[in-house]
Amino acid sequence: MSTVTSPIHCEQELLGQTVVVIGGSAGIGFETARRARAEGAKVILTGRNAERLEQAASEVGALSTAAFDAVDPVALEGFFGDLPTVDHVMVTAGRPSYGRLADMDFAKIRGLFGEHLLQALYVARYAANKVRPGGTLIFMGGTGGRRPAPGMSIVSAVTAALPALTANLALEIAPVRVNLIAAGFVDTPLSAELLGDQLEKRRNQLRTTLPIGRVVGPEDVAALAVHIMTNSALTGATFDIDGGQQFVSR
Ligand SMILES: NC(=O)c1ccc[n+]([C@@H]2O[C@H](COP(=O)([O-])OP(=O)(O)OC[C@H]3O[C@@H](n4cnc5c(N)ncnc54)[C@H](OP(=O)(O)O)[C@@H]3O)[C@@H](O)[C@H]2O)c1
Repeated sequence: MSTVTSPIHCEQELLGQTVVVIGGSAGIGFETARRARAEGAKVILTGRNAERLEQAASEVGALSTAAFDAVDPVALEGFFGDLPTVDHVMVTAGRPSYGRLADMDFAKIRGLFGEHLLQALYVARYAANKVRPGGTLIFMGGTGGRRPAPGMSIVSAVTAALPALTANLALEIAPVRVNLIAAGFVDTPLSAELLGDQLEKRRNQLRTTLPIGRVVGPEDVAALAVHIMTNSALTGATFDIDGGQQFVSR
């Protein structure tokens, strides 16, 4: 019996492509930029802190940078207006908002929903004619908000809304693909900031409780993001990456 093997291709998967990372100067966005560069892409990074952005850009050899707050729709429109056609846009700007209803003020709540959901709509509107057909828009969500708990109402509502938004946008702005990555704990500067001196304890706890026996890092999420960029069959989908965290206790 003879076996027919297909040739093995070792070429860089994003060679000649351009990837925009909105929130690319740290954490998941930065690692995605690094991974995309390793796969031959040019990267355009954004973030608020210009100094941190320049440092990140020189580390990965970015094509260009733009410092602005991605919560600001005018700034977003200006950024996309100046952008040539690109292959992929990933949005990693943002952070979760925890708090009990009794402690929240409604102006702040309105702002938070705007920040988390309107931002995705603005980006989709502006990116729709800047991402080439078959390229992808990738949003970040989470798995932690799927389990109700006091203080999680906004995170949970946003967590539930994003997969629906992603699926609908995938139809509306096709042939641009739209996908969502839902992460659990990822060991990034954001997690370090949120946990403070509890960070090491949390890492140790996750090493014990997660079925994968280790903590998920930004490079894990970056690998998934690049796969979503290169696999043109993927659209409208939510990809969980939490090492099984949602199936074990918090
Ligand atoms: N880490 C986790 O465990 C985890 C889990 C689930 C989901 N997520 C989500 O994944 C995304 C990335 O998280 P991360 O942990 O990589 O965060 P990170 O370490 O804080 O990095 C966030 C990056 O985005 C930029 N950024 C933040 N807010 C921005 C804004 N309003 N406008 C423009 N740039 C902004 C930051 O730079 P500047 O501060 O200079 O702007 C930085 O480059 C976030 O949306 C987060 O909620 C994270």
